[in-house]
Amino acid sequence: MHQKEHWEKVYETKAADAVSWFQEHAGLSLDLIKATGAARDAAIIDVGGGASTLVDDLVAEGYTDLTVLDLSAAALSAARRRLGAREGGVRWIEADITSVDLPASRYDIWHDRAVFHFLTDPADRAAYVRTVFQSVKPGGHVIVATFAEDGPVQCSGLPVMRYRADELHDEFGEAFTLLKHQKEEHHTPSGMVQQFVYCYCRRISS
Ligand SMILES: C[S@@+](CC[C@H](N)C(=O)[O-])C[C@H]1O[C@@H](n2cnc3c(N)ncnc32)[C@H](O)[C@@H]1O
Repeated sequence: MHQKEHWEKVYETKAADAVSWFQEHAGLSLDLIKATGAARDAAIIDVGGGASTLVDDLVAEGYTDLTVLDLSAAALSAARRRLGAREGGVRWIEADITSVDLPASRYDIWHDRAVFHFLTDPADRAAYVRTVFQSVKPGGHVIVATFAEDGPVQCSGLPVMRYRADELHDEFGEAFTLLKHQKEEHHTPSGMVQQFVYCYCRRISS
């Protein structure tokens, strides 16, 4: 099945809080974003944000320049419905991150939880990294979380890549400086435990 069809079906048939990756609050993501020290008007993009509650918490924290990008229209609709009147303050982009054309040097913070690990084709990973490099401002912050080396081999029934922090950073290369990495045990709504790794990098200035 085509990737987009897969994700539309997931979000059309499951409640947003029933999917395995659901978090009531994306606590570590929020902490890492706040720890960048970026101003409340910093441009933040949540790539493959799906129906994540991260955007709700960013709005509540006073961040004003927010973009959520996802392949699935159904996922974005679920997030917009949940946000209600506050959804108008967020930019919503329905697109594939491996082929989207994002504005150059637009974002101060790039966030991705559980999307990069679906890119099993090296060409897709290279396209993703090129997009991060061209759309994140020089010196900007990049937070990417994937399944860790001891995480599951599938997510949403699809094969995934698993990474140690150094391996994940290697995918991005020398144009990104790894400043911090952290593992997290995610407890799924059905009671499974999944190991994630979060990498926090900065894009080089030139
Ligand atoms: C496992 S979910 C994670 C959602 C969210 N980041 C979270 O932590 O709750 C993966 C998300 O990535 C989206 N996705 C998968 N492949 C994508 C792609 N190539 N481009 C954009 N979004 C994609 C899916 O629609 C889905 O919402």
